[in-house]
Amino acid sequence: MFSPKTGLALLLSFSVMMPFTAANAEDTPYTVTDGTHLDAESYNGFKLYRNWCARCHGTYGQGMVGPNLADSLGVISKEEFFDTVENGKSGTIGSMPAWSSNPKVMAGREQLYRYLKARSDGAIGEIKPKKAK
Ligand code: HEC
Repeated sequence: MFSPKTGLALLLSFSVMMPFTAANAEDTPYTVTDGTHLDAESYNGFKLYRNWCARCHGTYGQGMVGPNLADSLGVISKEEFFDTVENGKSGTIGSMPAWSSNPKVMAGREQLYRYLKARSDGAIGEIKPKKAK
C-alpha cells in the first residue's frame, strides 16, 4: 500500500532523476564527452563562432563589446537567437550586425546555437573544445 514512507522514497527518487528526465533532444542539442569533446555539429558551431562572433563576444562567448552569450542563451529562445543572428540587433549595449547576407553563418545557425547552448548549460567551459571521434 501507499505509505508516507513510500511517498517520500518516490519523491526523493523523482527529484534525483529530474535533471536527466528533463533533458530531451531540444533542450540538449549537443553532446559533450569528458568535458572537452563536442559532437561534430556543435564543434562546427564552435569553429563558426570563432570565425565570425568571437571578436565581439569573446573567445568562448564570455562577452567583450558584445554581451556574454553563455548567459544570453539561458534567457533568449532559439527563435530569438536565429532572428538576432539573421537581422542583427541594436540596443543598450551596442550594435550587432545582421548576418543575412553571410551564407556560412546563416546555414550554420543551428550549429552555432548548439555550441552556445553547451556553453550556456556549463557542459563545456571557457576552453578550446576538441572534436569527438
Ligand atoms: C561587431 C561586433 C559583433 C559581432 C561580430 C557579433 N555580435 Fe552579437 N552582438 C553584438 C552586440 C553589441 C550585441 C548587443 C546588442 C544590444 O542589445 O545592445 C550583440 C547581441 C547578440 C545577441 C543577443 C543577445 C541577447 O541577450 O539578446 C546574440 C544572440 C548574438 N549577438 C549572437 C551573435 C553571433 C552568433 C555572432 C556571430 C555570427 C555575433 N553575435 C557576432 C556585437 C556583435
